[in-house]
Formats: sequence, C-alpha cells, structure tokens
Amino acid sequence: MSENLSPIDTAKYVAARRATDFIESGMKVGLGTGSTAAWLLKCIAEMIRDEGLSITGVATSERTAAMARDLGIPSTTLDATKWLDLTIDGADEFDGEMTLIKGGGGALLQEKIVAAASDQMIVIADKTKEVETLGAFALPVEVIGFGRETTRALIEETLPGLDVLGRETVWRMDGEAPFKTDEGNFILDLHLKRIGNARQLALVLNQIPGVVENGLFVDLCDVVVTGHADGKVEVRDINAGTFEEQRLPVEPTANIFKDIGA
Ligand code: A5P
Repeated sequence: MSENLSPIDTAKYVAARRATDFIESGMKVGLGTGSTAAWLLKCIAEMIRDEGLSITGVATSERTAAMARDLGIPSTTLDATKWLDLTIDGADEFDGEMTLIKGGGGALLQEKIVAAASDQMIVIADKTKEVETLGAFALPVEVIGFGRETTRALIEETLPGLDVLGRETVWRMDGEAPFKTDEGNFILDLHLKRIGNARQLALVLNQIPGVVENGLFVDLCDVVVTGHADGKVEVRDINAGTFEEQRLPVEPTANIFKDIGA
C-alpha cells in the first residue's frame, strides 16, 4: 500500500482501477465528475500512455473536461457522439437496487444526460457510499435562477406528501455567494434523511416548474464497483445478477499516485 495514499483514496483508486477493465479501445466513454472519477481519469491517461488505449471521452462537467485536457485524454462533446458505449462516474450514495444520489459536486445535470446516453453506466465508489436507504446525503436539485424562491416554496409544499423524513432545504453556497452550476443554475440541497420511494420523488420533483433536474438516478446504473481501504473490490452487475470480489495491488511507486486532483 502506498504510504501517501489515505485509506479512502485507496478505496477510490481500486474502484476506479477495476472499472477500467470495462473499457476497450475504440469506445466512447462518459467521464464522471468528483474525487473518485479523478482517479479514473488518471488510470485512463496511464493506459493511453503506456498501453496504447484509444478512446474518446465525453466529460460530465467543465472540471472533468479540464482534467481530461490536462491528462491528454482525447475528448469530444456529447452532441458530436450522441451515444456512448459506457459512462463511469462516482456517486454520493447507492442502495441495493443501484439507485443513486448524485450531485455532491454540483454536476448532476450533465452527469444524468451523459449516463442516459450510455449503453452502460458503471458507478465507482468507496464502501462508505453504500446505504440501506437513500437520503442521509442531502439530495441536490438543480433549479433555474428565475423565481427560485418560488420553486423552493413549491418543493417544500410538495415534500409532506412524499415518503421522506426530513424537509429542510438549503441553497448550496460557494463561500459567500450561491453556488452556480456549469449551466448557471442553482442547487437546492434537500435534507430528507430517508427517501422511501426514490422513483416517485424523482418524478414529482421534475414536475415542479423551475426544477431542471434532481440528483436521483433511477434505473440508470448497471454496475457498481465498490472499493475498500484494504484494496478489496466488489463488482455488482444488476443485469447479469452477478457479484464478484477480488483484491487489487496498489503499487507505491506507480505514476498514478502523482498529482492526483480531487
Ligand atoms: C458530482 O456532481 C457528483 O455526482 C459526484 O459524482 C459524486 O458527488 C461523487 O463524488 P466523489 O467521488 O468525490 O465522492
């Protein structure tokens, strides 16, 4: 194990590394956003450099697009490709049905569009993201600027009729200013504590005027690759109904550990 790698980064790294087994030369690959996806980009860049892997990436955020550029991962737009072979992305929570909460990094809109445009979505996550019931992580909802307090009030009026426990809503901040997404929208974080019916909640939220998208990913994820701090990796494929476990080596001297940005 690398002396410089924390247990959580080891878990994220091994999940990302294992997920690269799904990538083949010639594929169009959706590139996720966040600290786990950052490991994936480093792994892909290494494979391009050392193994001659040839892929075309489509980033799910400006942040990921910049990282892909810096690492020399050939990339294009979703409009240019229209359809992708697979997307590999992180998650803030996932449950046994592979329903996800995403958007902790504020990129849920592009992430959901890219995932929906992919033949296969693979989630990479450390073990802490696995939950029995979704909702401990605040659910991000992307809201347009016009009338955003009205949209918030409409969301708050709707919550009591839904199978959730908490009702607090908080505008996400970026220091003193409201956080803005890549599309210039706002994020309202819903502190629901427990989400009893993710499918219903996702549909209801998206009916509210001013809501652009919500961070619940229902029926989008096909495979979850879960990393542990000791290098163990679990791969669960919901379509095949399979579950595999293995342990990956983590080499302390590998280039992959240099300059990783979260
Ligand atoms: C970005 O908006 C999110 O959906 C991320 O994919 C999610 O927050 C996971 O991020 P980490 O890998 O940094 O935990």
